[in-house]
Amino acid sequence: MKKTILTGLRPTGNLHLGHYFGAGKTWREIQDDYDFYLEIADVQALTDNFDDPEKVRKNVYEIAKDLLAIGINPERVHLFIQSQIPEIAELTVYYGNLVTVSRLQRNPTVKTEIAQKKELFGNDGESITYGFLGYPVSQAADITAFKGEVVPVGDDQVPLLEQCREIVRKFNSIYGEILVEPQQLLSKTPRIRGLDGNEKMGKSLGNAIYLVDDEETIKQKVMGAVTDPNKIKKDDPANPEICMVYYYHQLVNNEENNKTICEECKKGSRGCVQCKKDLIEAMNNFLKPIQEKRKFYEDNPEEVDKVLQKGTKEAREKAKEVMEEVKNAMKIDYYK
Ligand code: TRP
Repeated sequence: MKKTILTGLRPTGNLHLGHYFGAGKTWREIQDDYDFYLEIADVQALTDNFDDPEKVRKNVYEIAKDLLAIGINPERVHLFIQSQIPEIAELTVYYGNLVTVSRLQRNPTVKTEIAQKKELFGNDGESITYGFLGYPVSQAADITAFKGEVVPVGDDQVPLLEQCREIVRKFNSIYGEILVEPQQLLSKTPRIRGLDGNEKMGKSLGNAIYLVDDEETIKQKVMGAVTDPNKIKKDDPANPEICMVYYYHQLVNNEENNKTICEECKKGSRGCVQCKKDLIEAMNNFLKPIQEKRKFYEDNPEEVDKVLQKGTKEAREKAKEVMEEVKNAMKIDYYK
């Protein structure tokens, strides 16, 4: 029997190249080997976007189309919408008793996010809601509702998994061995850097290249990329290893071209403007098949709904089974 895997992502914006080469790559590689539940975490997105439901709803479909475009196979993966699985909300309520408020406040991921919000909104945290503070509890419900054994995540999510395992241990010690302690599967691919030279590509950093970016947008972004600062004139020799343009050539261009680019750059026979133009072309070629696949779903939104409905139905069936066991163990299985 295939092991069960669960992971999720918040629908707050489109997928970018960091997702494509990071989480997306891992998911594509493992999708045949596991019983894979892939959650669009709209409930989690609402914890800090509750005042903007339109944004979250729109992004549920954006993310779904992006995921299909990058090669998530809907025949293999149960792609589902978190809010449509009431069992997750139900489990969240019961797990709330198994975790202290101070433990949540000490959770490093939550702490970082609260610090970011304080900086953003300039208050001292009084606007942090109960729902936001409790989202690790809800995430533990996401995972355990499907008895997820393996959770592919980035390292920023490890404290959330640790929190989940604590809840599982506590639950099992009180109510019996029902739930499964999940293990993280950390992505082997290093983080994708931004064109600005930042260690990480991210929406909040404003340096992301989105899979949906059109040619004009790509052009603007690539033209602004950071190159070797020691190269002043067009024919100065430079170091491609510290150039973001070369870094991106390596991601989206072919080996043969990259060899030439590297040699020419070191020799000084390649200007940065030409090199950027070549990258724009390579980037557009790279994005083309992804965008074509995406266009199919844009033109046929009913196909996206079909995938989500199927995935959600399958996820619901599994969550119902687990919920029944949980209620039984908690002695709240009154009437069926
Ligand atoms: N917290 C994750 C993020 O911010 C998304 C997520 C929701 C998730 N539920 C999950 C990840 C369950 C792993 C497992 O991207």
